[in-house]
Amino acid sequence: MKTTCFIRVPSFCTPISPIIRKHLQKSFNKTGHYNQNHISTLNSAQTSISTSPSSPAPSTSHKPQTPVFLRPLIYSSTFPDLQSFTSWAKTLVSSVGSTFVQLDNGSDSTLLLRELRWLLEDSIDDPSLIPHLGICQNGGITSNTGSSSTEVVRLRVSLGQMYQLWKQRIQERRPFQYIVGCEHWRDLVLSVEEGVLIPRPETEKIVDLVGNVVGGNEMLREGLWADLGTGSGALAIGIARILGKNGRVIATDLSPTAISVAKFNVERYGLQDIIEIKQGSWFSPLVHVEGELDGLVCNPPYIPSEDIGSLQAEVAKHEPRLALDGGVEGMDNLLHLCERTAAMLKPGGFFAFETNGEKQCRLLANHMENEMTGSFRDVNIVSDFADIPRFLTGFCD
Ligand SMILES: C[S@@+](CC[C@H](N)C(=O)[O-])C[C@H]1O[C@@H](n2cnc3c(N)ncnc32)[C@H](O)[C@@H]1O
Repeated sequence: MKTTCFIRVPSFCTPISPIIRKHLQKSFNKTGHYNQNHISTLNSAQTSISTSPSSPAPSTSHKPQTPVFLRPLIYSSTFPDLQSFTSWAKTLVSSVGSTFVQLDNGSDSTLLLRELRWLLEDSIDDPSLIPHLGICQNGGITSNTGSSSTEVVRLRVSLGQMYQLWKQRIQERRPFQYIVGCEHWRDLVLSVEEGVLIPRPETEKIVDLVGNVVGGNEMLREGLWADLGTGSGALAIGIARILGKNGRVIATDLSPTAISVAKFNVERYGLQDIIEIKQGSWFSPLVHVEGELDGLVCNPPYIPSEDIGSLQAEVAKHEPRLALDGGVEGMDNLLHLCERTAAMLKPGGFFAFETNGEKQCRLLANHMENEMTGSFRDVNIVSDFADIPRFLTGFCD
């Protein structure tokens, strides 16, 4: 990928600075979660699926979309036509002003211009033309230098599609990541599309937590791990890359779209021999490895149902409800997972759950202590990159 813009440049093996990201992407909203960068039309079939482990698993027939930056250069445009597109797109951004910020703490025009630049970077063959289109690296506007280039510009999406995509971004508030079909997460560029949660920066920390525990522990490093509710496959891929040569990960999800996108991502990173992907509800695809897991991670749906409507439009209108809705208090899935984790892990096995924040972490820790006495040890609340208590970690006793 030929991106040159700072926060989208994947660094090798190190996460992008969360502080830079926090300022640039405005990744956290008032509740510390799920805002602009966190964002399908609600799939009614999915919402009706119960979280019970006995739910029948839907079949996987979905064909994942190819992210824009991986598509062949089969379209073309003249430079002046591309300039006209850019001017039109910038005018659309200007018309938004601070409306999205005021409505639901959504994107401001600076971020939208940065996204426009990223769309151009992903779509055109020669990104050195971008400065001539009047958008600088951080998304600011420069005067259009009016390059005299009369060359034909080769494109991965047609100019007509670019107009359509940008209209969707602004008028429908379709998440940028769904527009370009990918998200930069740690040092990975993961394919995403409607029906799959866009992986969030805070979740990156789970991979660091796993890295810390496997560092000094061969059993865990060479062990069998599970990523429940894998979505795009982000955690499974991140973990597979830090396990030893004998490590294995089983990644599960109920959503057929997530399963197919996770497969696509796993294959793109050549990890299909390490990561096995299985469809089904929570532990049901794992019954054959009960008591054999060395590690288990999960970022389950944990938003209280009634809060979903007030999230940013990108999230509330476009991300799959199946990935967000944690029931009345947001705790339904977390409690279910907690109940079964002790039986799934080996003694000494590690778990890490992501939550909505401090309240959920405490509720879960109390549940483990009071209702599951003796099942776990070293239970810890761990903060995310923005210092919000976010994860519950521990070991099976
Ligand atoms: C918050 S998203 C996390 C996705 C991914 N792990 C990440 O961190 O980006 C929760 C995921 O759980 C999946 N999910 C929801 N209910 C499930 C269930 N009963 N069994 C398995 N997966 C489920 C959703 O489809 C979604 O992919």
